[in-house]
Amino acid sequence: MRLLMDKKEIITWLHESSPGALSRLFKDADACRHRCVGDCVHVRGIIEFSNYCSKNCLYCGLRRSNSRIHRYRLSLPEIYACAEQAKKLRIPTVVLQSGEDPGYSIKDLCILAAKIKKLGLTVTVSIGERSFLDYRRLKEAGADRYLLRFETSNALLYRRLKPDSSLKKRITCIENLKQLGYETGSGSMIGLPGQSIGNIASDILLFAELGLDMIGIGPFIPHPDTPLSKAGKGSSEMVLKAVALTRLVTKNTNIPATTALGTIDAKGRQKALCCGANVIMPNLTPREYRVLYQIYPDKICISEDSIKCRQCIETMVTGIGRKIARGPGNRRVQRIVK
Ligand code: 5AD
Ligand code: SF4
Ligand code: FES
Repeated sequence: MRLLMDKKEIITWLHESSPGALSRLFKDADACRHRCVGDCVHVRGIIEFSNYCSKNCLYCGLRRSNSRIHRYRLSLPEIYACAEQAKKLRIPTVVLQSGEDPGYSIKDLCILAAKIKKLGLTVTVSIGERSFLDYRRLKEAGADRYLLRFETSNALLYRRLKPDSSLKKRITCIENLKQLGYETGSGSMIGLPGQSIGNIASDILLFAELGLDMIGIGPFIPHPDTPLSKAGKGSSEMVLKAVALTRLVTKNTNIPATTALGTIDAKGRQKALCCGANVIMPNLTPREYRVLYQIYPDKICISEDSIKCRQCIETMVTGIGRKIARGPGNRRVQRIVK
């Protein structure tokens, strides 16, 4: 892929704060989004099926050392019922997300993926780092897509924030997923303690280098029951700049307006949809469990149910003059414009 922007230019844009210049950047990204992926917004329903995690990422409320969190695990029939709800709500894709929970066997997850596929839904899995073999079994069972954010492209920062893993291992997982034919998503957080503007520029270049299909970018939000409780949060403007630049650099990828951005800025998701994003992910987790999936505090959509979130998203998308897509929104069938 030919990159139209080099690292220096990306850094200059990330430093930019003049409203006039930023409004030009956002308009360019919006036009690029229109040309490369069209005007439809794709809806992916997220099912947060377990908040158990064997890892200890310093930023995350689900980390294993957090003893203040009440843990839950949905049964396979409960998860399936959420997928049925997606179908009823005309949401064509479900995202099965959890912490890295050893409590589900790969066999069970395969049965689940296969069953949900039979509903005619597209299945995205987001359960962290697994072996090539596990990824292969899931793919063969019917999983279509996989989300695994690399969080930061800086190997040292990665080591500090994710003591159980390494950036190298993460990238290998992403490459394995691609090799297996998954539509592969990754992403990063903005405003991590110790992260520089140069690091964010490198994240954007790594998105392009990895040839990702989906890219999620959200602000870091400090969680009170983690070692980073005293750190500052990421800025909504910096997230929007990163979204816009990611669109301009990666052209026809699927980019969500993230829930974390909607959490720090009430209009954040609408703003992201107007500067490069083309995907939105309503929550389909049963209401009683939502409050427990506390990756970060004050998450939106905690007291709403799936029907309410679906309606809210319809209003949001039509409110900015866009339409909700009817099909599954695979990246590969979208137009590629040079
Ligand atoms: N603030 C914002 N996002 C977070 N995530 C985890 N912890 C936080 C936090 N404190 C994000 C990570 C992870 C995704 C599921 O949630 O990027 O990949
Ligand atoms: Fe677990 Fe993911 Fe949270 Fe890390 S970011 S503690 S792997 S849920
Ligand atoms: Fe959940 Fe708006 S998307 S209430």
